[in-house]
Amino acid sequence: MSDNFKDSFEKTRIAGKIAAGALDEVSKIIKPGIRTSEIDNICYNYINDHGAYSAPLFYRGFPKSCCTSANHVVCHGIPSDKILQDGDILNVDVTALKDGWHGDTSRTFEVGKVSIKANKLVKTTYEAMMKAIEIVKEDIHLGDIGAIIQNHVEAEGFSVVQDFCGHGIGQQFHKEPNVLHYGKKGTGEKLKAGMIFTIEPMINLGKYEIKTLNDGWTAVTKDKSLSAQFEHTIGVTKDGCEIFTLPKN
Ligand code: MF3
Ligand code: CO
Ligand code: CO
Repeated sequence: MSDNFKDSFEKTRIAGKIAAGALDEVSKIIKPGIRTSEIDNICYNYINDHGAYSAPLFYRGFPKSCCTSANHVVCHGIPSDKILQDGDILNVDVTALKDGWHGDTSRTFEVGKVSIKANKLVKTTYEAMMKAIEIVKEDIHLGDIGAIIQNHVEAEGFSVVQDFCGHGIGQQFHKEPNVLHYGKKGTGEKLKAGMIFTIEPMINLGKYEIKTLNDGWTAVTKDKSLSAQFEHTIGVTKDGCEIFTLPKN
């Protein structure tokens, strides 16, 4: 690996590991009856205990340390005294800022026993993200990422949210390029070794349209159908990529 991006990879690896570790902790307490504010506390404490900052906290006025997005909430749900119910699906999105570098990751958890449809949505969303990650290497096009995700989820009858995308990340939380989760193979910018960005598809059981609630953050599906999301922060190499936000197990 060339020296000029060794440092950025190493710093992102450290931040990414903290973000993923926070989700590992969260995964241990998710069950019917807990409040999303308890998840927020775990994220805040874990990240602080590891010498990092939680990037969402006060980001553009966001009030909490992570996003908790249940059921028809697409993303940017705000942790609250909301109590999780058996059968809910819940995305938790965590971003750690350590030594000036960011690691951003999310997972959708199943709370208790979920419906077959909900499970299929969660599984398909995860597969779509991983299929995209598997093709990433220098010289593929950004559109190849969008196309593989869109093809995989539409084959199951699900839809790709278009109003949010993955993003370059590093010393800034969100930077170029925009990484769309839909598109056409062979279109868009070519990837270069050393680029660091997220892939974070939001996939709806019904239609792709979303709207934002009056709190200015919470994005929900317009048709109230379920929505799932997974996110990894990755770094492009000559012949593949490194995932910086893998879980421990
Ligand atoms: N972590 C989200 C992302 O994947 C952004 C959250 S911004 C917040 O890009 F302010 F809502 F936390
Ligand atoms: Co992100
Ligand atoms: Co995120």
